[in-house]
Amino acid sequence: MSIAENIKTSIERASWIREMFEQGQHLKAIHGEDQVFDFSLGNPVIEPPSQVHEILIQLLQDDQKGTHRYMPNPGFPQTREFIAKELQEEFGLGFQTGDIVMCVGAGGGLNALFKALLNPDDEVLALAPYFVEYGFYAENHGGVLKIAETTETFQIDIDKIAQAMTPKTKIIVVNSPNNPTGVVYPQEAMDAIGQLLADKEKEYGHSIFLVSDEPYRQIIFDDLSNCNVFHSHPNSVMITSHSKDLALAGERIGFIAMHPEMEDRSDLQNALTLTTRILGYVNAPALMQRILPHLKGVRVSISAYQHLRDIFYQALTDFGFDVVKPQGAFYLFPKSPTADDVDFVKQAQEENILLVPGTGFGCPGYFRIAFCFTEDMIIRSFDGFEKLAKKFGLS
Ligand SMILES: Cc1ncc(COP(=O)(O)O)c(C=O)c1O
Repeated sequence: MSIAENIKTSIERASWIREMFEQGQHLKAIHGEDQVFDFSLGNPVIEPPSQVHEILIQLLQDDQKGTHRYMPNPGFPQTREFIAKELQEEFGLGFQTGDIVMCVGAGGGLNALFKALLNPDDEVLALAPYFVEYGFYAENHGGVLKIAETTETFQIDIDKIAQAMTPKTKIIVVNSPNNPTGVVYPQEAMDAIGQLLADKEKEYGHSIFLVSDEPYRQIIFDDLSNCNVFHSHPNSVMITSHSKDLALAGERIGFIAMHPEMEDRSDLQNALTLTTRILGYVNAPALMQRILPHLKGVRVSISAYQHLRDIFYQALTDFGFDVVKPQGAFYLFPKSPTADDVDFVKQAQEENILLVPGTGFGCPGYFRIAFCFTEDMIIRSFDGFEKLAKKFGLS
């Protein structure tokens, strides 16, 4: 088959994901669906808040004509205006409708933005551990993914970022709350990145964009707040979605917000209008755009996720695992008790527990647990984790 060489290589690179999925299916077929503890995917089992269905039904009954047609590529002006107002309130900056472009999930937004910004061989700098799709997204648009490590507790190491930058650096992508670690970056760290980028922009003579990938921005625990990239750098863009905070991952709805004081921002607005179109998205899903202005302040239960974080973190630390306590999102990223994280994940499968090795996030020696599942399933998995801890001499 004449599949493109780079896609063949990408399939090969991602083959461990398929293997894990197949192994999971195999275990489920043998032991039954509810006897396998599949913590491998960040696909929440909770249903969207009831208001989502109520509004959808109401909108369909209203039967407003023309709402299923093509629309301006950046999205319905009413939805973008609503989001601009929300962001004005939240960040105290003058967001306008034009600063918002609706996108097909955060993943679609990142692709539209990378296509708008990257010249061949331009570099996108991400912080390890990182969401593995960043590499594919950068390559989709001729870019190259570069990595800077974080500290022992997965926090920003500004020296490592400075060392990883080159005159080809066009974008630095940050993700807080973080997948896979659950850490939230403090404002001072983001401001330090902003200062570094301002210095490097002068040195290299071109703009460098601070891109904040924030699909978990509403899922924050212990009354913490997320860092604000708009405070840190004028060339900043936030990309978010409602995949997690409204549990609408399959509906593919999100938005891109550019800093209202970004220089030449009409260029980026025009570029995003075109890239949304020519990537074949044309526009973000119409019905999902229409529900958003009716869902002000609505989100899934954050305290329920915090409770799951608490019981899982407590159990793992009791069993002797070394794990940084997540401050948001719905992942735990413990240290693997053996340096070979892929082997540990295989051993976990023998206890019917499905995990993802840290290697998959550019961070060997760790493993990821997604905890967006039922409390019952989580509690029933603890025996298996305890056995693993004993097997590896942790307790
Ligand atoms: C860090 C990160 N970025 C982006 C995405 C993509 O989100 P969406 O489903 O909105 O495209 C995910 C999804 O899990 C993610 O974890």
